[in-house]
Amino acid sequence: MTKMTKQSGAISNAPVSETDPHSTLGETSTSAAFDFELPTDRAGTDSLKWDGPANELPMWVADMDFPTAPVVAEAVQRVAATGLYGYTHVPDRFREAVSHWWGERHGYTFAPDEVLFATGVMPAISSTIRKLTTPAENVLIQPPVYGIFYPAIRDNGRTVLENELVYENGLYRIDFDDLERKLADPQTTLMLLCNPHNPIGYLWDRETLARIGDLCAKHHVLVLSDEIHCDITRPGLDYTPFAAVSETTRANAITFVSPTKTFNIAGVQSSAVIVSDPVLRHKIHRALEADGVAEPNAFAMPATIAAFTEGAPWLDALRSTIAENADTAVDFIRREIPQITTKVPQATYLLWLDCSAITDDSTELAARLRSETGLRLSEGAGFGGNGDRFLRMNLATQRSRLLDGLERLKAGLRAQ
Ligand SMILES: Cc1ncc(COP(=O)(O)O)c(C=O)c1O
Repeated sequence: MTKMTKQSGAISNAPVSETDPHSTLGETSTSAAFDFELPTDRAGTDSLKWDGPANELPMWVADMDFPTAPVVAEAVQRVAATGLYGYTHVPDRFREAVSHWWGERHGYTFAPDEVLFATGVMPAISSTIRKLTTPAENVLIQPPVYGIFYPAIRDNGRTVLENELVYENGLYRIDFDDLERKLADPQTTLMLLCNPHNPIGYLWDRETLARIGDLCAKHHVLVLSDEIHCDITRPGLDYTPFAAVSETTRANAITFVSPTKTFNIAGVQSSAVIVSDPVLRHKIHRALEADGVAEPNAFAMPATIAAFTEGAPWLDALRSTIAENADTAVDFIRREIPQITTKVPQATYLLWLDCSAITDDSTELAARLRSETGLRLSEGAGFGGNGDRFLRMNLATQRSRLLDGLERLKAGLRAQ
């Protein structure tokens, strides 16, 4: 991988390293206008994350512990107060809000008409895979990567083809020779790109994306770009939308985005699919309709429109908070848990912990940490690739919980 490209926003003056993308981390600023220390309690609410034993501290699934932006909560509350929760259609304001947000924040301009609604990124990706491939065709992914990509391909009867990221000296890079070989296989129809990349927290730079784009176009492989984590970047850094790189990538991409990670509203079930090519867009629209994932619930539209039209100040404060948490966690681990190595993520609120000095069985390690300390982390094995030597820690929580989690991690590894 080459140096990170920064697109917009305040850029730090730090020198750009050719080898270490993390040397380009931006600057943090204050988040005083919003309260990210407010204690929250989801016990007894059927929360996927929090519905466990009282002594447990869940820092696994990518759900934040912060209430959403006040403007989003107010939009939901306004609908809730009416008692009227009938069928909802997708208004133009949704498409305009998505188009405006990506144009303003990320320098990716597209007409509102290019935006489709879906009830989630994974339902939309799964639907797209079914529509655009036939059984047994290959869908290429780059592990370690979001684990649900595997069942989204396999459970649809398609074949997972892995272009595993190469890990050297604590850094990941793409093996382009391997990538091209696999894209050249006539059975390979789609590439599922993760941009930014969960769980390693990388922003793929413009040059890397252009190279992927050119190879995919050359070998007639369409790119599904999952950009769900794109808004949560380190202050001073921005992501590069794959489709915005060139006319080639734009024509050969389907982009999946959502307000749900950014604004912590996964339970509202809202996402957008951006497709420039009109023929392809028609196909995807029909696929989403056929699979019953094209109709919003009563809260999805007001929440999404509020988020993407009024949510920027909250998001910027959130990004600062996450950056501070990441700095705290990385400092703590370097000082107190030297058996683990880790790097501040450029994007996402997820910290990828290299435990290779301790184990090559992260499932066993995660289970033992959970039973001995109550700390629940994601086992890296679920992400494929070299993930069996990693754990993933969710940093989007109140500082007291973060410190508690770090102390539990230290205590759990003391015997190692
Ligand atoms: C890369 C990636 N894609 C998709 C999802 C899930 O998206 P949704 O809840 O909209 O299906 C996640 C959740 O963590 C994710 O990390």
